[in-house]
Amino acid sequence: MKQSTLLLLMAFFVHACQTNSPSDSSSNEYNIIPLPVSLKAKPGKFNITPDTKIVIATKDEGLQLAADYLNGIFGTKMTIEEGDPGKDAISFLLDPSIENEEGYELNIDPFEISIKSKTGAGAFYAVQTLWQLSDARAVSCAEIKDAPRYPYRGMHLDVGRHFFPVDFIKKYIDLLAMHKFNTFHWHLTEDQGWRLEIKKYPKLQEVAACRNETLIGHYNDQPHKFDGKKYCGYYTQEEAKEVVKYAAERFITVIPEIEMPGHAMAAIAAYPELGCTGQQIEPAKIWGVHEDVFCPNEATFEFLENVLTEVLAIFPSKYIHIGGDECPKVQWEKSAFCQNIIKKEGLKDEHGLQSYFIQRMEKFLNAKGRRIIGWDEILEGGLAPDATVMSWRGTEGGIAAAQQGHDVIMTPTSHCYFDYYQSDSPDEPLAIGGYLPLEKVYNYEPTPSELTTEEARHVLGTQGNVWTEYMKTPDYVEYMVFPRASALSEIAWSPRESKNYDDFISRLAPHLKRLKEKGVNAANKIYDVKTSVLSGDGQGIRVNLSPKMDGFDLRYSLDGNDPTATSPVFSEAVAIEKSGIFKATSFEGNEAVSSPVQLVFNLHKATGKKITLTEVPAEKYSGNGPGSVINGVAGSNERYGGAEWLGFEGKNFEALIDLGTPASFSKISTRFFNGKGQWIYPPKNVSVAVSDDGENFTEKGKANVKDGEGKIIESQIDLGETTARYIKVSVENYGVIPAGAQGAGHKSWLFVDELRVE
Ligand code: ACM
Repeated sequence: MKQSTLLLLMAFFVHACQTNSPSDSSSNEYNIIPLPVSLKAKPGKFNITPDTKIVIATKDEGLQLAADYLNGIFGTKMTIEEGDPGKDAISFLLDPSIENEEGYELNIDPFEISIKSKTGAGAFYAVQTLWQLSDARAVSCAEIKDAPRYPYRGMHLDVGRHFFPVDFIKKYIDLLAMHKFNTFHWHLTEDQGWRLEIKKYPKLQEVAACRNETLIGHYNDQPHKFDGKKYCGYYTQEEAKEVVKYAAERFITVIPEIEMPGHAMAAIAAYPELGCTGQQIEPAKIWGVHEDVFCPNEATFEFLENVLTEVLAIFPSKYIHIGGDECPKVQWEKSAFCQNIIKKEGLKDEHGLQSYFIQRMEKFLNAKGRRIIGWDEILEGGLAPDATVMSWRGTEGGIAAAQQGHDVIMTPTSHCYFDYYQSDSPDEPLAIGGYLPLEKVYNYEPTPSELTTEEARHVLGTQGNVWTEYMKTPDYVEYMVFPRASALSEIAWSPRESKNYDDFISRLAPHLKRLKEKGVNAANKIYDVKTSVLSGDGQGIRVNLSPKMDGFDLRYSLDGNDPTATSPVFSEAVAIEKSGIFKATSFEGNEAVSSPVQLVFNLHKATGKKITLTEVPAEKYSGNGPGSVINGVAGSNERYGGAEWLGFEGKNFEALIDLGTPASFSKISTRFFNGKGQWIYPPKNVSVAVSDDGENFTEKGKANVKDGEGKIIESQIDLGETTARYIKVSVENYGVIPAGAQGAGHKSWLFVDELRVE
């Protein structure tokens, strides 16, 4: 057989392997995450033995680091020597003809491995790929050409809300390196704790690094309860330098974030002159956004410049993150001093004052040869001239900044917030809210389609964010981050054209084994059955199940019992004709490989009927379409997001239900989520009108919605015995969030599910 034919056949074989059953060990050979640009499988294996040598063909510090890492990752002590590539050797060679700074070519034959790269980083990524191709010390032969899609591939970690020891930070960095991320965004300062030693300001260690106690449970649980325990922690400068060095040896840049002007309560508690009120406060013991922020006075600028001078000596990164998000302007509005600067500097308002603040800090950092990154609020009041924007509240900030010629990093809550729930299961550990399953992360496209080719060049890449209000331990962080970060690594690294979720899942099964071997408490949801209820089109209620994977059966039951190996196998959408509990489990042969998922159906007169909405819900809170609110399944009592709740930002809700034929009913009840910490408010009122022709409506009832402390606010409208074909339910959004509350001044969110017609 000609070599080229063999390569072609083998390439087909690789592809076939990748879409095979994840439990088929023969398919585990070429399961690399993130997926390389091109891989040609070749027959045979290279066995790493005590006699294998590492040869460095081009003298280079970066190649030496990659070679050292190779020994570390395989737990070997291969000799490293300078010389020419040859038999029984793994050779490293710099090749300036490789275009991408981080690209590499990896060629594995039974008696020789050669790694060519433009830089040490490329060689390091080749080593990561090599390791993923190995089973013990036998490396599958292949020819790989690879390079990243984006130059910025980041993961963030908030150590302010909870503090994590240096050993965990190093483990986290190793896991980022394994996924070819190149940036660790270290969120070091918060309202609840300042975590970096600053020698000039000892009270940052004595006062700002400790909070007196911590909130128990979720912010939305009322009344708030506290644990009564002091919570402290900070990294010494020596430790931070050790982390920077450890990361650099793994080709990861550490970008420190020193938050300003908001999220600064801990620093103000240590030095009250940094605030506008001068009052003694304590580091925050509750989550959210707080009104105590840095005052833009000379004492603050001197403090921050001194702090940053020490920060720059620890962190050699080109970028310094200065925060800039969630800075309430309440104190600035009340402060004569702030109002005076606004006048003196000819600023428009308090947003202009924030811009003035950030621009002063940018000037300081630019003069030291560094550049700033800020969260997308730094757009408000005018962007600092050289700032890079991290777009988190959506993609709009990133789009606007790129259109203004600024670099951007895309990290929208909708796809990049790993503090959100990853499944609908009631067993999930407490999270801030939201819903971000693995598939949604995988389906993220960081370059917004709104940008021209020229503007799109400003999209440097993407990043996953890990806010730790509810993640108290390293194990908890690992559970929330992996494998969602594995999915994001592929979005950041692999070509857009190769994106294929089923293929990713088939490679993820062996990847999860790797993570387990590394002692990572990754969430394993890949065998979990995902339900989606189809409804709202007048065709009744049907349940669809996914994922369909070769070698696995999805079995279901309609009687409330857990499915067994003899329960029916799902093949097409299952019709639900009466109230009851639907359950589904994934089976491999006769063995259940997932916990059962369940849907509790409580049918009423509108279930299975047709519904249309006047306003579309927010894309990230659109459930299973408009039918979600009349499918007979009530949204979770504990959390918004997921497949049931529909969320509307600042908008009213109006639904038109078509019962198909005139029917009689006498009351309509509605459920709304109450999560004021997340800006979710019950509405003002609900009204119901009916019609026989769908055009002329008669109002039948209206009720004000009574606020309360629980997470679910219910409202019921008694209509009296009514017969009609069409029902219009109108719900008026609460409006603007009042002063003093989380999100004051912003539009409130309205979450709706379910509209019961009886
Ligand atoms: C953020 O999530 N406040 C950037």
